Amino acid sequence: QTEISRVRNLDKIQMGKYEVEPWYFSPYPIDFVDSEMVYICEFCLSYYGEVTSFERHRSKCTLLHPPGNEIYRDDNVSFFEIDGRRQRTWCRNLCLLSKLFLDHKTLYYDVDPFLFYCMAVRDEHGCHLVGYFSKEKESAEGYNVACILTLPQYQRKGYGKVLIDFSYLLSKRENKLGSPEKPLSDLGLLGYRAYWQEVIVDLLIEDKVEANIEDIGAVTAMTTNDVLHTLQNLNMLRYSKNQHVIVLTDAVIEQRERQKAKEKIKGKRNIDPEKLIWKPPV
Ligand code: COA
Ligand code: NA
Repeated sequence: QTEISRVRNLDKIQMGKYEVEPWYFSPYPIDFVDSEMVYICEFCLSYYGEVTSFERHRSKCTLLHPPGNEIYRDDNVSFFEIDGRRQRTWCRNLCLLSKLFLDHKTLYYDVDPFLFYCMAVRDEHGCHLVGYFSKEKESAEGYNVACILTLPQYQRKGYGKVLIDFSYLLSKRENKLGSPEKPLSDLGLLGYRAYWQEVIVDLLIEDKVEANIEDIGAVTAMTTNDVLHTLQNLNMLRYSKNQHVIVLTDAVIEQRERQKAKEKIKGKRNIDPEKLIWKPPV
């Protein structure tokens, strides 16, 4: 665990068919600061400061997907479960890469205590990493996500919601309630708030659950705290006869209808729970 408070050090990275501008510092080798472009192998995530060495690597690299078990596959995406202890180098490379887009002060070189759930889209060239979340093998605080990232070239397309949804699906299989590690980044908070609101409001609109906080938590694997705060943010809590009452307001219903219309245009990405082939690791 290293303290990092330095300024952005890389100008540009190339990954697959994308060129991306990093947002924050990440401790790549010091001589990379002179490179106009840092080349990252999109499959093994190793990094090169020069195109010739990168191309030499590409001609030899045989990896076509993240190195772990494929535990989920649908028409759009696959998820791979990767053990930090077994795939130390790959997971360290992933942490280095994601640090470019996370303003945490610390970078976890010790990947052993984590599992990494990596989401990829498939085409004829292979399984391309879109995003991931990491999860502590044992979380004393009950966190179901440590770090979460959609690579910038894939952001704002609904993949973040899919990652979050998948993290809650794992918690449901574990019969646990989960919550992301705090503090969340600004973007992390926006993504989670959007997810929590959508899931809870849809449940209540479809009348699939008793309108009380514990039952909503039990069905969604969200903690009581996260449910409570979401309802408060939506101004859906009333206090009556010494207890909380959840009120589905017209304003909330209308907002959700507008969102749904937007989703129809953008195309909504969903996780199909039946396609998860997974047992909680022991
Ligand atoms: N501005 C405003 N709202 C945003 C936003 C942004 N830049 N990015 C996400 N949101 C909100 C929106 O409500 C969005 O829904 P909409 O696009 O229908 O309006 C919703 O979150 C879900 O967006 P989605 O496309 O599913 O998320 P994403 O794939 O862009 O991923 C993160 C979200 C947080 C994973 C991504 O921003 C990220 O990787 N950020 C950098 C790393 C980070 O900060 N991770 C959290 C660490 S705790
Ligand atoms: Na985090």
